[in-house]
Amino acid sequence: MYTLAYDWQQLLERKKVRIQLGPRVLLLLAFEDKAYALADKCPHKGYPISTGHFEKGIIQCKEHGLEIDIRTGIAVDTQKSCTLIPNIQERGIKTYQTKIENGKVYVDLPVIK
Ligand code: FES
Repeated sequence: MYTLAYDWQQLLERKKVRIQLGPRVLLLLAFEDKAYALADKCPHKGYPISTGHFEKGIIQCKEHGLEIDIRTGIAVDTQKSCTLIPNIQERGIKTYQTKIENGKVYVDLPVIK
């Protein structure tokens, strides 16, 4: 179910923003005229990735430097990724579909039962 998350123009200006929608804490990003939504939780030790440096579609966790591709939610395949998270199956972050309508960003969130 799509949920209203943020103003698109403000997201374009800020590039990334941490938001809370119900029980979920998300990182919203604007990149190449699209909105992306990820769980704000690094797959390494769970720190918020929203505090990291964001450039060219990659956000780098501030804690230990893991780089996440926001388009896939998966850590970039580097030596650091292999060292921090040896199991390749555990290198991803939950991502959510988004849409932009009437100047607003909506995130597709599964209903919590
Ligand atoms: S918590 Fe993100 S790299 Fe360690």
